[in-house]
Amino acid sequence: MDLPEPSPEARQHSERVAARVRDEIAAAGGWLPFSRYMELVLYAPGLGYYSAGARKLGRDGDFTTAPEISPLFGAALAHAAAEVLATGCDAILEVGAGSGALAAAMLAELERIGRVPREYLILELSADLRERSRDTLAARVPHLLDRVAWLNRLPPAFEGLVVGNEVLDAMPVEIVRVTDAGVEQAGVVVTAGALAWGWRPAPPDLRDEAERLALPPGYTTEIGLVARAFIRALGAALARGVALFIDYGFPEREFYHPQRAQGTLMCHYRHRAHGDPFFLPGLQDVTAHVDFTAIARAARAAGMDVLGYTSQAQFLLGCGLTDLMLRIPPEDPARYLPQAAAAQKLVSPAEMGELFKAIALGKRYAGPLAAFAAGDRTASL
Ligand SMILES: C[S@@+](CC[C@H](N)C(=O)[O-])C[C@H]1O[C@@H](n2cnc3c(N)ncnc32)[C@H](O)[C@@H]1O
Repeated sequence: MDLPEPSPEARQHSERVAARVRDEIAAAGGWLPFSRYMELVLYAPGLGYYSAGARKLGRDGDFTTAPEISPLFGAALAHAAAEVLATGCDAILEVGAGSGALAAAMLAELERIGRVPREYLILELSADLRERSRDTLAARVPHLLDRVAWLNRLPPAFEGLVVGNEVLDAMPVEIVRVTDAGVEQAGVVVTAGALAWGWRPAPPDLRDEAERLALPPGYTTEIGLVARAFIRALGAALARGVALFIDYGFPEREFYHPQRAQGTLMCHYRHRAHGDPFFLPGLQDVTAHVDFTAIARAARAAGMDVLGYTSQAQFLLGCGLTDLMLRIPPEDPARYLPQAAAAQKLVSPAEMGELFKAIALGKRYAGPLAAFAAGDRTASL
């Protein structure tokens, strides 16, 4: 693969991650489910991609997310947040806040419109990113820092808005393939000292899921059991309010389309995307697209309603992105042009506008949400 060479220190780090994986494979008798491999290479404390010191997000990292592209994204989300906060829920909980860019942009806009929440909680698995988000908030909204708190687990009986951008795709997935002999589950083995795929007959839950989806022989795909479990836990933790997730993915019918017979697993290393999860373990991101039908199903089973589902473009326009753009004077091209380009990237169907979706899940929350008033696609789930 033609990918940039890591520094000698980075390569050594990756070798330590691979050694940890090999130890765990040996302890497990020679085979680890792919989801456990993904969890280790992304989140093993001090070792995993998100848990160790790599830059990860932004221009100098491996990939760029919407909040890193422009504060317009967070400013738009602040308007959806304000609608929920106006119903008497006075807190925001952000899951997987990364660098803190979304938190800073949302808080700044909420302050501008006079709707700063009593508290802004951040649930982030990575200790490294918890520190980074603290630094971002201290630099961008220092006077609001006392409202921000970092959590290690979902708070019980939370009332307010839960928000997560590109967090569901970062949760470990299982991989299955359909063969003439039945459904198999992907795992990781060591072959001649190297990490490699190892396939086993799938356990009943994965086999039933592949059969329910009627996947044809030859089809390989991911099943996001961790994201579903997370949504169920969220349904139990949310006493009242709305959970809003934005991510790339599709409804079930499109996700398990013949076009995607090799699945959606994707790795990002220095702004190049490729499909080999064993390349430099610990130095690259590993992700899969989100099956939003499965998310909606898990949410409903956990007592939540689907309040809306649409494309990122439609959602951001519904949040007032156009009005936010109008605030930037076009006669100041140094400010206007980069933000116009960023807005275009966020909403263009050829970029993030159509592949990314927004889903809103509600618990004891009556109203429709304005951001989904036009172009709601809940019926497609
Ligand atoms: C792709 S990054 C996105 C970061 C940020 N939301 C953004 O849009 O720039 C995924 C983030 O989710 C976090 N994460 C993944 N699973 C999580 C979980 N179960 N709870 C909390 N954070 C999680 C990762 O540590 C990482 O910060």
